[in-house]
Amino acid sequence: MSQDDSIKVTSDGSEIYHPSDEVVSRATIKDYDSLYKRSIEDREGFWAEEAEKLSWYEKWDKVLDDSEKPFYKWFTGGKINIIQNAIDRHQDGAIADKTAIIWEGEPGDKRRFTYRQVNEEVSKFANILKDKGVKKGDIVTIYMPQVPELAFAMLACAKIGAAHSVVYGGFSAEALSQRINDAKCRVLITADGGWRRGKIIDLKAISNDAMSRSPSVEVCITIKRTEHEVSMQEGRDYWYHELHTEASAECETEVTDAEDMLFILYTSGTTGRPKALLHTHGGYSLYTSVTHKYVFDIKDNDIWWCAADPGWITGHSYIVYSPLINGTTVIMYEGAPNFPNPGRWWQMIAEYKVTILYTSPTAIRGLMRFGDKWPEKHDISSLRLLGSVGEPINPEAWKWYHRVIGNETCPIMDTWWQTETGGFMITPLPITPLKPGSATKPFFGIEIAVVDDNGNEVAVGEEGKLVLKAPWPGMARTIYGDDERFREVYWKDYEKQGWYKTGDSARIDSDGYVWIIGRIDDVIKVSGYRLGTAEIESALVSHDAVSEAAAIGLPHELKGNAIHTFVILREGLEGSDKLAEELGQHVRSEIGPIARPESIEFVDSLPKTRSGKIMRRVLKARALGEDEGDLSTLEE
Ligand code: WT7
Repeated sequence: MSQDDSIKVTSDGSEIYHPSDEVVSRATIKDYDSLYKRSIEDREGFWAEEAEKLSWYEKWDKVLDDSEKPFYKWFTGGKINIIQNAIDRHQDGAIADKTAIIWEGEPGDKRRFTYRQVNEEVSKFANILKDKGVKKGDIVTIYMPQVPELAFAMLACAKIGAAHSVVYGGFSAEALSQRINDAKCRVLITADGGWRRGKIIDLKAISNDAMSRSPSVEVCITIKRTEHEVSMQEGRDYWYHELHTEASAECETEVTDAEDMLFILYTSGTTGRPKALLHTHGGYSLYTSVTHKYVFDIKDNDIWWCAADPGWITGHSYIVYSPLINGTTVIMYEGAPNFPNPGRWWQMIAEYKVTILYTSPTAIRGLMRFGDKWPEKHDISSLRLLGSVGEPINPEAWKWYHRVIGNETCPIMDTWWQTETGGFMITPLPITPLKPGSATKPFFGIEIAVVDDNGNEVAVGEEGKLVLKAPWPGMARTIYGDDERFREVYWKDYEKQGWYKTGDSARIDSDGYVWIIGRIDDVIKVSGYRLGTAEIESALVSHDAVSEAAAIGLPHELKGNAIHTFVILREGLEGSDKLAEELGQHVRSEIGPIARPESIEFVDSLPKTRSGKIMRRVLKARALGEDEGDLSTLEE
C-alpha cells in the first residue's frame, strides 16, 4: 500500500489512516474484533490465560471476587510480587545482561543498567530500607528528580512488600507535607536536587520545609545528584551513597499476596483534598504488562521511551513497571524537552535508536512550535510506533506528530486512561485504522458506554458521560484510608448498574470510535496535569486578602487548558497587578508551579446556586461568550 492510499476520508468527513502492510505483518495481534469478543464473553477466562504468562509463587483460587462491590478483588489467594516479574525472573539467561535502563541527565551525563545491575541496585536499596526499619505494609514517600534511583526506590519498596507514595518533584513543600501526613509516612526518600532547564530544583530544601510540618518522618534518605550544599539533620537525615557502600546486593523478595498494596498515588479530584488511589501487586502487574505488550506490540529489540515523569501514573505504569515486566529496554531522561535546545529529544532518539516514543499532546504541541527543522537535524528513522496520553490530541498536533516525527509510517497510539485505571482503557492497537483525535476502541476485557444521567446510552455521535461497565484487573482498589469516598466519587452515580464513572465526557461515532471531549467534573487538565478547581480555590482563600475564589479551565493553545480564577477580596481591599502577582505566587507555593493561574480577575460577586455552590459552568460560558444555559438555580 502506498502512503497516499493509506489515508481515506469517511462519510462524516473524518480522515482514516490505515496501517501499512509492514506494521500489520509485524503486529502480534492481527484481529482485534475476535479477541475483543472473546475477552468480553469470557472475561475471567481471558485474564486467567494472560495471568498464566506471569510468574506466581502460588496460583490464585479465584480470578475475580465481586462479593463486596465496588471493592473488587482479583486473583485472590494468589501469591505474587511485581518484582518477581519485573526483575527476579530476568536474572537467569541472556536477558540478565540485556540493558534495562538507559538514563540521561539534563546536563548530558549518562548511565546504563542491565537487568542484573537493576537487581543489585534494587536489592541494595531494599536492604537500606529494611535497615531503617521499613516493613511490609509501610508507606514510604518518594520525592525525587527523574534519576535511576527514583525507579530503584520504588522497586525496592515493592520488593520488601512496602508501598510507595511518589510525589511529583514539581509539587511544593506544602503539597508534599500534606501527602506525607495523609499517609503518615515514617520514611522520606529525596535528593539534594534535580536539573530543570539548566537550573537546580532544590528538592532537599523543599523536603526540609515539608518535614518541619510532617512530624511522622523519622528517616530521610537523600540521593546526591546536583551536589550543591544542603542542610542535613543529624539523626534523621542520611546520604544514600554512604548507606549504599555498606549495603548487601542480596535480598530476598517478599512473598506478597495478589491483593497486597503495591503503591498509593495522589491525584486531584473534586474536593480540595487530593486522594490516594491504591493499586495492588497482582492485578496491576497483569494489566500494565498486557496493555504495554499488546498496544505497543513490544518486541525484544525495542527501545522504549515513555517521556513522562515517574511522579505520575504514566511513569509508574509505563516507565517503571510494565516495561521491566516485559523485559524491555527503557529510556529515562531527567530534564526539559527543549534543553539546551528544542532538538534534545530528537537527538536522544537518534543516539539510542528509540523505536517507540510515548508522550503527551502538550509536549508535542510545545515541540511543534519550534518547527520541523529540529527533528530534521536528526535521524529519527528508528521510530516505528508513537503514543499519546493525558488529554485529547488535536488533529493538527496529531498530523504533525505523524508526518514529521513518524515519517507518515508510525501509527499513533492515542491511549485514554486514568490514575484510577492503572493502564490503557481505550486505545488503538498498531493494526487499528486511526482517526486523528480519537482514542478509537476499548482494550480487551473493557466495556464502555456513553450515557446520560439515568444511565441510558445516548445516540450515536451524541455527547454523554463515559462509564466503564465492568471491572478490570488494573483498577484502583480504593482511596487509601477512605473507602467511602471511593464509593461516593466513582460508583454512586450508577450504583444500580454497577458502573464506574470516569468523570469524562465523550461521544462514540458510527464506526464505534470513541472521541474523548474532556472532564465534566471539577477537574482541569493543564498540560496533561490533573488539578482540582477546589484545590486551586482553597489555595487562594488561604491567602489573607482573599474572601472567595473560583477557578475554571479555558482552552489554551499549548496547554490544552489553562486555569483562570475569579477572586473576591476581603472588605476594604483593592485589586492590583501586584496583588494578582502575589496571589499567583501563593498558589504556586501552596501546590506547585503547575497550579499557578493564567489569570486572576478581581470581582465583586460570583454566580452561585441558592445553596451557595459556585456555578463554574456559568463563569466558563461567560468567559467563552457562550450561552449560559439554564440559570434557574442561580441566586446571585
Ligand atoms: C484524565 C486522567 C492516564 C495517564 C495520564 C493522565 C484525560 C487521559 C487521554 C486521552 C483524552 C485523556 C482524561 C482522563 N486523558 N488520556 N488519550 N485522550 N483525554 O492520568 O492524571 O489520572 O488523568 O486525563 O480526562 O480522565 P490522570
